[in-house]
Amino acid sequence: MLLAIESSCDETAAAVIDENLVVRSSVIASQTVIHQRFGGVVPEMASRAHVQRILPVIDEALEKAGVGLDDLAAIAVVTHPGLVGSLLVGLTAGKTLALVLGKPLVAINHIEAHLYACRMHAGKDIFPAVGLVVSGGHTNLYDCPGPTGFELLGSTIDDAAGEAFDKVASILGLAYPGGPAIQKAAETGSPTAFRFPRSFLKDADRLEFSFSGLKTAVLYEVAGKPPGEYDRSALAPQYVADLAASFQEAVVDVLIAKCVQALRKMKRDVLCVGGGVAANARLRQRLEEAALSESFSLVVAPLELCTDNAAMSAIAWELLAQGRTAELDLDVSAGLVRRRAGPANRS
Ligand code: KG4
Ligand code: ZN
Repeated sequence: MLLAIESSCDETAAAVIDENLVVRSSVIASQTVIHQRFGGVVPEMASRAHVQRILPVIDEALEKAGVGLDDLAAIAVVTHPGLVGSLLVGLTAGKTLALVLGKPLVAINHIEAHLYACRMHAGKDIFPAVGLVVSGGHTNLYDCPGPTGFELLGSTIDDAAGEAFDKVASILGLAYPGGPAIQKAAETGSPTAFRFPRSFLKDADRLEFSFSGLKTAVLYEVAGKPPGEYDRSALAPQYVADLAASFQEAVVDVLIAKCVQALRKMKRDVLCVGGGVAANARLRQRLEEAALSESFSLVVAPLELCTDNAAMSAIAWELLAQGRTAELDLDVSAGLVRRRAGPANRS
């Protein structure tokens, strides 16, 4: 049994996964109610909430799985990328358990775990593949030759897709988090009502994304002024629905085009998609259509493994099999590269 701990952003999560990748328990304490009035995650508040919740969440995960600490083969903990203060809470809990129990510690890349959710869902090997991670903090395309060791092909040069959903929701006066709210509003809107920009759409050599221009285009359409200087509650519901649908379609168009371009470039015929935005119903529908028309196999993470959770850190089993355990000088990192604590980091 593996105990996995996740605290990279605003979800405190723990899960127990067996070596057949069966999720025995997955506990997620969401902080949405804490952050929603700010329209985004407030890092210091997130760290404090993690401190309050991490031990009860771990206890609950063990209890639900019917597993004792002695039954654990290893402790997996997400160390990067994410909010440093938040990550440190999970890492400290993970290191302490590993030290006290004398169990191996495994460092998890949160983004790779998002893609591994697809492997778990498939129930069999799905690699080699191209992988897309679309979340609140990242929009990354990877070449995935095997279940670990993903190679970054390209990412966003400004906002992540989820961040654009959250910011556009705020512009439209919709609830936080913005993704589900925009999806809901878009149900009654027209995706062709407004023609918003689609960055790098036809530039097949450029496996990069840009969503900040799209966000600004929505803002100009709504008011031509910053939020706060117009009355968001006075926007007509149909106008909001059309804006939401047109914005969502622009994001989906670009995501699909870049996936297809990456598949062609890397000569892969499997696409896996994970991350919070992969929960989007329109994206899932359009991905299925593209898989048919472009003849590739599609594995999208199941809804419960799209938004942040600890179960997807089952990728630790692969790392353990490769002998890739971590030492207690393991450190967190805001970015995509893993770090160890060194003199420079301790000062
Ligand atoms: O992966 P995740 O839970 O956290 C990060 O690692 O960032 O992703 C959260 C993001 C948020 O920006 C949220 O608005 C977006 O995923 N999201 C969605 C949907 N559900 C969550 N975006 C579009 N449509 C959805 N249904
Ligand atoms: Zn995530």
